[in-house]
Amino acid sequence: MSSLHHDPARRQFASVPLLRRDSIGDAYHVLTFDWAAGPRARPGQFAMVRGSNWGHAPLLPRPMSYLSGGSTPSILVRVYGDGTRRMARSEPGDHFDLVGPLGNGWRAPIPGLRQVLVAGGVGVAPLLFLARSLIEQGRSPVLLYGGRSQRDLPLSDDLVDTCEVELATEDGSRGTHGRVTDLLGRWLGPGIEVFTCGPDPMMARVAGLCEAAGVPCEASLESPMACGYGVCLGCAVPRRDATYLYACVDGPCVDALTLDWGAAGAEPTRGPIGANGSVAADGEQPR
Ligand SMILES: Cc1cc2nc3c(=O)[nH]c(=O)nc-3n(C[C@H](O)[C@H](O)[C@H](O)COP(=O)(O)OP(=O)(O)OC[C@H]3O[C@@H](n4cnc5c(N)ncnc54)[C@H](O)[C@@H]3O)c2cc1C
Ligand code: FES
Repeated sequence: MSSLHHDPARRQFASVPLLRRDSIGDAYHVLTFDWAAGPRARPGQFAMVRGSNWGHAPLLPRPMSYLSGGSTPSILVRVYGDGTRRMARSEPGDHFDLVGPLGNGWRAPIPGLRQVLVAGGVGVAPLLFLARSLIEQGRSPVLLYGGRSQRDLPLSDDLVDTCEVELATEDGSRGTHGRVTDLLGRWLGPGIEVFTCGPDPMMARVAGLCEAAGVPCEASLESPMACGYGVCLGCAVPRRDATYLYACVDGPCVDALTLDWGAAGAEPTRGPIGANGSVAADGEQPR
């Protein structure tokens, strides 16, 4: 098993034009940028994104996972607060200040295991990027994807065209009636490893199920971030050994079984701490 290490040398700052914005209902938007000269992102990495014309507010860029890399990288945005609302109103030709690619992407798959990807809300973005990469490597991942209703499963049609997919909604409007973690149980066992991204309570539950089953589990964290590259120290996440990691440089993709999810406030019974405000895949706040 190898891991992909945070590499500051590959990080670039640039003002790049928006090529297109594709809306998926009112709440979700895919933004595609023209960044031909930019470094190529790996699945699981993220960019700090801010409109070049935002003026003084919001002041800080917003962390967004890459949905795709290459010369025209894209992100999937859920409208939540001021920054994401501005992204949702942007038009082709608008310029954005991007810093990326940042953080450690998903680690390499373990030889001989099948990958089960567990997504909630916009947590699907880094997992769809991963699924496409795994398929290019000749693997056959399965993606379990949950949301509150069918409106909260953006890109589900793209997923179905990409790999084996199981859907769950809490209101039963699409797929299995229930939570995405309800789908996971029948997959857990020898020969499986799990990659997950979504609201913290969902990931905490996924990590707990994997630990009980002896299954490796990697999670992509969405801790609040101000800088995105190790300067502000604002993204500390507690580990089980009573130390902290910094989600932007030690993650966002980390071994989920090393984290103290309870101390982070993510126990499902304790309610959300989610970074992102999504509509819940597991009864929490939306990602
Ligand atoms: C590595 C990483 C990858 C991410 N990838 C995506 C993605 O692909 N798509 C996507 O839509 N979102 C993603 N997010 C979450 C996204 O960055 C936030 O939803 C966004 O910053 C919200 O900005 P805003 O201006 O719309 O909301 P704001 O106006 O900044 O926030 C509105 C409210 O939400 C709270 N809030 C905002 N961010 C957080 C947070 N991180 N934790 C707790 N509370 C918070 C604020 O305190 C405030 O009360 C990611 C976050 C991280 C760290
Ligand atoms: S976001 Fe600033 S150190 Fe991690």
